Amino acid sequence: MFKSYHNIQTKTLGSIFLASTLFLTACGASEPKDSVKSAADAIVNKAKVAESTTVTKVHEKVAQTEAKSTSLSTKKAAVATPSDNMGGSGTYANGKFVIDGGVTYPVKNGKIASYAANTQEKKGFTYGRTPTKNEIAAWDIDVMPDGTGLPEGKGSVEEGDELYESKCVSCHGDFGSGGGGYPSLAKGNAYEGQKTLKNQRLKPDDDGPVRVFGTYWAHASTLWWYVKTGMPHPAPMSLSNDEVYALCAYILSINEMEIDGEELDDEYVLDRAKFLKIEMPNKDGFIPNIDGKDGLENVRAFYHDTSNYGNGTRCMKDCFEGKAKIQPITIEMKEFNPPLSKVKDLPKEGANGAAKVTEGQKIYEKSCAVCHGNDSMGAPDLGNKEAWAKVMKPGIDTALKNAITGKNAMPPRGGTSLKDDELKKAIEYMYSKSK
Ligand code: HEC
Ligand code: HEC
Repeated sequence: MFKSYHNIQTKTLGSIFLASTLFLTACGASEPKDSVKSAADAIVNKAKVAESTTVTKVHEKVAQTEAKSTSLSTKKAAVATPSDNMGGSGTYANGKFVIDGGVTYPVKNGKIASYAANTQEKKGFTYGRTPTKNEIAAWDIDVMPDGTGLPEGKGSVEEGDELYESKCVSCHGDFGSGGGGYPSLAKGNAYEGQKTLKNQRLKPDDDGPVRVFGTYWAHASTLWWYVKTGMPHPAPMSLSNDEVYALCAYILSINEMEIDGEELDDEYVLDRAKFLKIEMPNKDGFIPNIDGKDGLENVRAFYHDTSNYGNGTRCMKDCFEGKAKIQPITIEMKEFNPPLSKVKDLPKEGANGAAKVTEGQKIYEKSCAVCHGNDSMGAPDLGNKEAWAKVMKPGIDTALKNAITGKNAMPPRGGTSLKDDELKKAIEYMYSKSK
């Protein structure tokens, strides 16, 4: 149905809708509804006409068409993708190998990259453009615990059961039993133990919370949002709001949860108002409470109270009864040449034939080597017999005197505040190395 895809491929790439629908198609989503088809065809045709237009222009066209469509699902499916060219395995039109599920974008001269190149940018750095109202609205679909973002709608447990049987059971199992690597949607008893993290901190051997929706999740809003945007896994965003309400009702019922004290039997119809009354069994089980401005203080208070973890008492001394056993290393390490030393001190200075570092050498290295290390400054350099013989000819006292007062490019005391005897040691060292 989207044969002309190749024509617009390079121009619509980078569209947020395309990226998400690629996945949709790759996983074998069901065919979009007729209204969606015609919207999609409209875009494809417009794009064909605009064969030579830039990405910007096609973006505008997509945005215009978006503006006309009202439902989000229409918008998403509007840039539907081919099943033969993208997704799964195989190759792209340019012959590059497609990594399963990966999305790549043409860049230039048949080359591809993992990101769409921004061809709008002319020179220098730009911040792109402001997203359109529709683009923001298409992303801004999260549902908050206070009900922000939760749309109106309704659905019964029975309807949810049917939907579940046709769209979810293949992965999530009968009555949400999970298995085979797919998460269970009903497990553990939300109202009996196993629902708080504190449980396990106090008695580490106890069973921890079963981390599934009913026993673990703090807010029901996450369920609505998750199912709406992420499920069924192969076709996310394919469920209507009513269908999501029905599925949520079913999932609540198989978890034997209540709303306002009422059990959810088959006829129970869940709507927005009732949804907002759901109290998750584990809502207070998340401790310390890190939400809000007091989060950090809550964490401090929690860890300050030793009854919240371990055995409840701090221990700095004699923490266990009996005597500590010393466990010697039983394997002797012989295979080294030279053999590993068993001595635990640092080697002594001058040991193993290493010359002891004299004070004169230390002073030289720290304060004189910068000039006397080589002859580039015109200083008598270390190891230069001729130069040092000349210096020492009048005797060490003259050399020392000159070193103290300075001479030509030699600054007084070499630019240091070293004492006379220290200078002397450095001179003796340099001379000893230059004989
Ligand atoms: C093709 C397999 C598949 C189908 C079909 C499917 N799901 Fe899922 N579902 C998954 C996988 C995989 C995850 C875990 C995703 C993850 O953790 O990243 C999941 C996670 C979930 C979760 C979150 C569970 C948790 O504890 O984290 C819910 C809720 C859920 N699915 C509901 C549904 C509903 C409702 C349907 C039917 C409309 C459905 N799923 C269909 C595979 C599937
Ligand atoms: C900034 C570079 C510089 C530093 C640092 C320096 N020297 Fe010199 N030193 C020279 C130069 C250049 C000469 C050669 C002077 C000349 O004969 O024109 C020299 C010459 C000497 C001489 C020979 C003096 C003579 O009688 O001809 C001694 C001794 C000497 N330096 C000792 C030292 C000592 C000891 C230190 C370290 C504490 C030191 N120098 C640090 C540049 C330096």
